[in-house]
Amino acid sequence: MFENHGANKVIDESKQGEATIIEGGTGAKKLYVESYGCQMNFSDSEVVASIMTKEGYTTTRNIDEADVVLINTCSIRENAETRVRNRLTEFKKRKQDQPNLVVGILGCMAERLKQSLLEEEQLVDLVAGPDAYRDLPNLVDEVGSGQRAVNVLLSREETYADISPVRLDQGGVSAFVTITRGCDNMCSFCVVPFTRGRERSRDPETIVQECKDLFAKGYREVTLLGQNVDSYRWNMSSKGVIKDETKATTNFAQLMEMVALVHPDLRVRFSTSHPKDMTDDVLEVMAKYDNICPYIHLPVQSGHTDVLERMNRGYSREWYLDRIAAIRRIIPNCAISTDIITGFCGETDEEHEATVSLMKEVKYDYAYMFKYSERPKTLAERKFKDDVPEDVKGRRLEEIIQIQNQHSKEWNEKEIGQVHQVLIEGPSKRSQEHLCGRNGRNAMVVFPKGDLVKGTYCYVKINDCTSATLIGEVVDGPNA
Ligand code: SAH
Ligand code: SF4
Ligand code: F3S
Repeated sequence: MFENHGANKVIDESKQGEATIIEGGTGAKKLYVESYGCQMNFSDSEVVASIMTKEGYTTTRNIDEADVVLINTCSIRENAETRVRNRLTEFKKRKQDQPNLVVGILGCMAERLKQSLLEEEQLVDLVAGPDAYRDLPNLVDEVGSGQRAVNVLLSREETYADISPVRLDQGGVSAFVTITRGCDNMCSFCVVPFTRGRERSRDPETIVQECKDLFAKGYREVTLLGQNVDSYRWNMSSKGVIKDETKATTNFAQLMEMVALVHPDLRVRFSTSHPKDMTDDVLEVMAKYDNICPYIHLPVQSGHTDVLERMNRGYSREWYLDRIAAIRRIIPNCAISTDIITGFCGETDEEHEATVSLMKEVKYDYAYMFKYSERPKTLAERKFKDDVPEDVKGRRLEEIIQIQNQHSKEWNEKEIGQVHQVLIEGPSKRSQEHLCGRNGRNAMVVFPKGDLVKGTYCYVKINDCTSATLIGEVVDGPNA
């Protein structure tokens, strides 16, 4: 979803990106971490790096010099797991030459498959679930002393609030800050509630402090992360676990305001919003602060109410469209993106057409689109048949991808002639003579570098575009 530069790329299985390899620390033992999956995993790998560097490890990008290899994994769709399995098989071969190498699996696949990766498949030495990272130094020691090292306990409280993550892109511009962990929603297709456990919110003071520290280190953008940021609720008396409305609480709108006030030059983004919980007060806070970016990722999944019901999403087509109308009313220039699943259990042609018509009605700036992949233990697996044939899923996916490409192109074409404020992220991928950065609406903008530097803002007049990028020139101000 977000472009990452240099060594710090993320394999975002939820959004189809690439691998993250991390680097930092000063210790003698070398740790290599590779991350797959969503931004949460990316962010968790930074927590892992922090825990391990305190124990005397240095993170390395060179797997050949590693003493410990950790792979932070994703289970969202079957192909995400297949990719990790292939990688683990490669690591296993490596162990034949390097018998002392410790290979560990972290994240959602670790939580889902637990001991089996260690005992039945013997692919790894160590298994640690998303709430067990504080235990990693012990687990590595256990492997060293010849024991099986597994910790897949899920917690109702762990938020790693006190751990200051090792930032993987030293001198970076944009950072992720986790505000909630887990998910209580139980969408019927989704494995996340099983792999990440119950939802819990992180202490707002620690969130604001982390954002202040990031700003002081030169970061100019934070993305607040949660599976459903709108259900963020911190309760003074309960460590954020029990949502007792009678006690003083901080909700997401209030938290976002606190973060926006850290500094007017710190851009604030967030992901993911949930249509059933996104309230107007969140939109009003967005409209109030110039540094909160006018961009909302609001996954719809399907445009038909019956499918949404089978998915257990907690809203109807009409409710969703009302939320879109609220965004357009309160933040008229807001960009909107979404996630869509094609071929969910029992999806008829008519239901698919409803998704197509919803796309045409909303006209998203961007969409992440997936074929339904049945996941073990989910409500859908237990209740429904995965009965839409693979070729139908594929055809429907192709159709919506084409529609979306057309919409993205139309949005970009509208920008020609406009001037945007851009936060410079670094050199463009294609040319050293160009820089790139995003406008508030999250579109990637490329322009000649002149004497500008990353981490600063500039104004760019858009002259041209592709379906994915805006191309322009730097101008003096917003009204050039
Ligand atoms: N918490 C976010 C979603 C996280 S998963 C939300 O509620 O929107 C990211 C996306 O992966 C989902 O929005 C969904 O579109 C997709 N996804 C999740 N489970 C899937 C499955 N079993 N098959 C296909 N796509 C899936
Ligand atoms: Fe999965 Fe639904 Fe939770 Fe998102 S809100 S993580 S789709 S269960
Ligand atoms: Fe994947 Fe787990 Fe994220 S399943 S999408 S890494 S929460």
